[in-house]
Amino acid sequence: MMTEQMLPQELIRKKRDGGALSPDEIAFFVRGLADGSISSEQVSAMAMAIYFNTMTFAEIGELTRAMVASGHTIDWSHQGLDGVVIDKHSTGGVGDKVSLMLAPLVAACGAYVPMISGPALGHTGGTLDKLDSVTNYKTSLDLESFREVVKSVGCAIIGQTEELAPADKRFYAIRDVTATVESIPLITASILSKKIAAGLDALVMDVKIGNGAFMQTLADAEQLADSIINTAAEAGLPVRATITDMSAVLGRNAGNAVEIMETIDYLTGTYRDERLQDVVTALAIDMLCMIGLADEPESAERQINAALDGGKAAEIFAKMVSAQGGPHDFIESAAQHLPQAAVKKPAYAKDAGFVTHINVREVGNIIVALGGGRKRVEDKIDYSVGLTDVAGIGVRVDADKPIAYVHARDEDSAEQAIEGLRHAFSVSEEKLHQLPASVICERLA
Ligand code: URA
Repeated sequence: MMTEQMLPQELIRKKRDGGALSPDEIAFFVRGLADGSISSEQVSAMAMAIYFNTMTFAEIGELTRAMVASGHTIDWSHQGLDGVVIDKHSTGGVGDKVSLMLAPLVAACGAYVPMISGPALGHTGGTLDKLDSVTNYKTSLDLESFREVVKSVGCAIIGQTEELAPADKRFYAIRDVTATVESIPLITASILSKKIAAGLDALVMDVKIGNGAFMQTLADAEQLADSIINTAAEAGLPVRATITDMSAVLGRNAGNAVEIMETIDYLTGTYRDERLQDVVTALAIDMLCMIGLADEPESAERQINAALDGGKAAEIFAKMVSAQGGPHDFIESAAQHLPQAAVKKPAYAKDAGFVTHINVREVGNIIVALGGGRKRVEDKIDYSVGLTDVAGIGVRVDADKPIAYVHARDEDSAEQAIEGLRHAFSVSEEKLHQLPASVICERLA
């Protein structure tokens, strides 16, 4: 079919009926996504058709290529870097602040980490929104400034600009509000288009499973990991993936500003949640081994611990915040540079007992309802709201120990969140006989 004669509705119909789109058709769709000539209704319908009828491996490759081609690709070879360029990406979770600690940590060990992150998606949080909660931090640097920060600090975290994979920027925002996130082809193309455009030498993936993730089962998570690894390999990008558990909130805080506070506690050693620590360490080990900064996991772990305990990772985080326009004293006085919610209330369980199950997707939706995520593309986020000290599986909750503290903009929304949390957390008088399995489920390369 000639491009000029193509009609978006015909392509949607073809995908709706289970057909495979040709490279020209995919290129046409992605051009229309990027220049706005395909309407949001048509993009939504196409996303839903792909959700139901999936895509062949060849289509996923074409979609990824076309989304990369919708913008620029960074070439680091002229930058004079004395290290390798690597990044990590997560398929999304609740309380997943791993990128915020991993980027400075791996940079502290000698790598360069140019991270292009996304805003919140569905019930999951977004690294970008979390950083947007820091006073004056710029998540939308131009490419030249992005390059300079990466070179001088070792890492930078920005969002998609109009220059890098702009087609994904629009697609991502539309998928977020049309229940079309949970699609292996769409997740693969979305993640890889950003990462290939960032000009990486290598990538590490955190593929989440469980009721708080987009992939619910190990089989689906493995399929997504394979799709990402194989599509990236075709584009010449080496990827390792780790499948991690998302059946509890990761870490103790979930929201935006509250997750930045937890990041600072983690980097400064004030408090490190064990499951969060396991994920950060596993991914950092993979990153250092993949690019030859460590020749085996034990020496990678020694470097990681030294960078954390010696304060270098925290120092790099502070430099990154300041280089991206944020406060110069962020680590020392973070609370002054982050918005605080008007209302903070404990959410107690109806009956005392041990937490046996958490509906993590519901917890994510409670944060969205508080204002911490978007219900419509144009919604503005309230960065101050969220949950702190969230109980994990097996923890006893009672009149002294709440399920979590709710940070809300007013009493009404706080009460609704408290009610929601009571439903989302199952509590039993009986102590769990079997503690939850390790947060690290599987490693693939
Ligand atoms: N993260 C992304 O960047 N895109 C997705 O589609 C899912 C998670």
